[in-house]
Amino acid sequence: MPTRVPSSAQSSPVSVIVLAAGGGTRMRSKTMKVLHRVAGRSMVEHVLVAVSALEPARVVAVVGHGREQVGPHIQQAAPHALLAVQEEQHGTGHAVRVAVEAVTAVDERLQGTVLVAYGDTPLLTGESLSAFAAEHEAAQCAVSILSGEVPDPTGYGRVVRDEDGEVLAIVEEKDADADQRLIREINSGILAFDAEFLAEALPQIGNDNAKGEYYLTDAVQLARDAGLTVGAYPIEDWLQTEGANDRKQLADLGRIMNQRIVERWMREGVSVMDPATTWIDADVVLAQDVTILPGTQLLGATVVGEDAVVGPDTTLQDCEVGAGARVVRTHGELAVVGEGATVGPFSYLRPGSVVGAAGKIGAFVETKNATIGEGAKVPHLSYVGDAEIGEGANIGAGTIFANYDGVAKHRTRIGRHAKTASNNTFVAPVEVGDGAGTGAGTVVRRDVPPGALAVSSGPQRNLPGWAQTRRAGTPQAEAAEQAASHDRSHDGDGGLG
Ligand code: UD1
Ligand code: CA
Repeated sequence: MPTRVPSSAQSSPVSVIVLAAGGGTRMRSKTMKVLHRVAGRSMVEHVLVAVSALEPARVVAVVGHGREQVGPHIQQAAPHALLAVQEEQHGTGHAVRVAVEAVTAVDERLQGTVLVAYGDTPLLTGESLSAFAAEHEAAQCAVSILSGEVPDPTGYGRVVRDEDGEVLAIVEEKDADADQRLIREINSGILAFDAEFLAEALPQIGNDNAKGEYYLTDAVQLARDAGLTVGAYPIEDWLQTEGANDRKQLADLGRIMNQRIVERWMREGVSVMDPATTWIDADVVLAQDVTILPGTQLLGATVVGEDAVVGPDTTLQDCEVGAGARVVRTHGELAVVGEGATVGPFSYLRPGSVVGAAGKIGAFVETKNATIGEGAKVPHLSYVGDAEIGEGANIGAGTIFANYDGVAKHRTRIGRHAKTASNNTFVAPVEVGDGAGTGAGTVVRRDVPPGALAVSSGPQRNLPGWAQTRRAGTPQAEAAEQAASHDRSHDGDGGLG
């Protein structure tokens, strides 16, 4: 009977070592593998989020390849994590040794349970890690393996058990014999250790194997040789431990993650008409009774309020959509859409756009750095840059807020309940007062006082017979002539008015 590690180790602190020193050549990318993104987070960020659910006493991230990229990223995602630098990658056993040394270097000692995870398994959840740590601790194991039965075990370390089912060792693919290669129970790579056993085992791990690497997995046999308990707990949802090594696998895991996120929101009361064409990032927050129509991407830190309808064919990056709002065929970034407001179709909300409650941004309207007041409307074909539009104001079709003089940007302010007509140009900096108005085609270069009507185009002049004389022989002249003779023959019956 193998010796169980002392029960004092139970419900003891948990520390986590995240291995992220590999470069990931198969990504064929200048971006290190663990920094590739799925569902709006890097792969390593997903792992760090899962790890944080354990409230670990210590998190150590081992970085090596591209550490000038990976290190700062990890420190931003997990400010309390300790970075351990593995200059050269001599295997997982070596990586963990480097991690333990980094802990010693800051005058700490790992105690209780030490989990080892990889930085490229985005689907891993905190619940799975906690459950695994709990099993490891309950069984008082020196080492536990989070194993899995995968359809194709090629490339993985195999979990070798004896006839009683006791775990004997992990044998790497390259070191396995023909029989061992038939084993479908694999090492996911996630291992749990009793901290004291780990400290004793690491120096004993050698590199006399097919790859000439220090295999962390050799700790399993070392534990057995020392008569200690080893456990292997198959994870049912083995996709959680899958890593992405190339772009194909990255896309596959991204699709699976999206499916899981979409299903979670549907269980929370969100209607998703077409899950297959709906993409929701991990950090998005949706209220109950939100409806998402096909072809919609909700990205980054986007938040959507109750009863809002988003889509079809809409992309919102880091946007806030208020309750009951309607956003149709729109592209938005860092924009806020107020309660009950309507946006689209074919609108472009650029950063700093704030649409007030019950406001409206209509077809072919682009906004940037613009606050559109409560109930204010920009319904058609306009550019609104660097502007403030007061509540209840209405902006006519085809209006341009000319914010850029070629050197600097300037602001335009439109007052409350102002009504500006079609095809206006506001040459910033300029202000239209509360309740003021403009005529069609006005180019507003000077401030308009409250209540005034601004008209900039001159009075209209008609030059009779212009087409017949200046465009003689054209269909235009012909049409004009026909209309004139028609008018002459119907003289006195009112004509066309
Ligand atoms: C490892 C396991 C294998 C398991 C498989 C699961 C060992 C010896 N083998 O094999 O049993 O089935 O993972 O995917 O542990 N890393 C470092 N520094 C190193 C070496 C690796 O940080 O020196 C990191 C890598 O970036 C990677 C992870 O550790 O994230 C696994 O390393 P890898 O070389 O891919 O191990 P495998 O051969 O796949
Ligand atoms: Ca691997």
